[in-house]
Amino acid sequence: MAGGQGTRLGFAHPKGMYDIGLQSSKSLFRVQAERIRKLQELATKQFPGKNGIITWYIMTSEHTMLPTRTYFKENNFFGLQEENIHMFEQGSLPCFDFNGKILLDQKHRIAKAPDGNGGLYRALRDSGKLEDMKFRNIKYLHAHSVDNILIKVADPIFIGYCALQKADCAAKVVEKSHPNEAVGVVCMVDGKYQVVEYSEITQKTAEMRNIDGRLTFSAGNICNHYFSAEFLNKIGSTYEKALKLHVAKKKIPFVDNAGKRITPDKVNGIKIEKFVFDVFEFSDKFLTVEVARDVEFSALKNADSAGKDCASTARKDIYNLHRKYIENAGGKIEGHVEEIEISPLLSYAGEGLEDIVKGNIYSCPIHLTSS
Ligand code: UD1
Repeated sequence: MAGGQGTRLGFAHPKGMYDIGLQSSKSLFRVQAERIRKLQELATKQFPGKNGIITWYIMTSEHTMLPTRTYFKENNFFGLQEENIHMFEQGSLPCFDFNGKILLDQKHRIAKAPDGNGGLYRALRDSGKLEDMKFRNIKYLHAHSVDNILIKVADPIFIGYCALQKADCAAKVVEKSHPNEAVGVVCMVDGKYQVVEYSEITQKTAEMRNIDGRLTFSAGNICNHYFSAEFLNKIGSTYEKALKLHVAKKKIPFVDNAGKRITPDKVNGIKIEKFVFDVFEFSDKFLTVEVARDVEFSALKNADSAGKDCASTARKDIYNLHRKYIENAGGKIEGHVEEIEISPLLSYAGEGLEDIVKGNIYSCPIHLTSS
């Protein structure tokens, strides 16, 4: 899911193009592409004679489609086969002021915004991707936000577990760190699985704790989901129309009555969004899988000035995880821990490092590459 506008980050390009400042200067898209390459290689090794192909469907929006496409082309699809990368565009919805009037972006154009990451289902259907999945005999899908530097793209353990359990839909979660962390919580509301989004939960509910002191609603959603292709088809044909609409109050540039374009400095209107997790309630077998935050979740949402969920925290989380990979494989790191990077082309999730690092003593910066 790469159709968001990335307003909090303040980056003028699609978020996937962002370079968080690793030694390799790899962007989020490149890191993800290389994880897919490695996984294909591991799959092919594991099942000789079979061609381990992962199809990558990338959802973009009006503003991110062209730059994303150009970026991939210019980078030669990061070594993946172009035919296995499919970009498709989500829809958009008009923006309103607080009196319910549609805002104008230009005198001749209404203000519109992407229809939220829940626009995924309609876009998959209308762009022919559901048909493409059938054609390719794809049965299982992994969907994730573009901005998690630790994302295990197409995680074979998650997909395999969900498939074995015959789940039709699943979500990875991490334990929510504090009541006000900007993550939704997976829970049951009136007997139905749902995510209550961080922007919609009441403070009182967010703060509820069990006797042991842990948050009652602690299953933090990390925008990391599994779907069976069958379920996606069911959503596309039946339930998509029933998806809830959520209201987000935002600063929306508009043309005023005098015809002047205004960029407001405070919230002035409403964007309407669908949320990807609102299909959970239509699932017949829904699973949540709790994962370790330090291994799987570090989101890039803000500029560094915010001090959280930003490029410097993403880098730190990579350094810590890659330090563990080296130590678990028998390597030692002396001195200050910083700037440790292992190329995804060398290791997808810490595997296969023993032969390279065992018995070695490193000091930072460390950059392990595949050649
Ligand atoms: C999202 C989750 C939230 C979770 C958090 C974890 C949703 C609706 N909310 O919130 O529950 O706790 O991530 O970090 O999933 N996107 C599109 N099209 C859009 C809007 C967004 O493709 O119209 C994509 C973004 O590019 C991004 C992902 O969806 O990759 C998540 O969107 P974002 O706005 O960053 O979600 P959060 O508010 O952080």
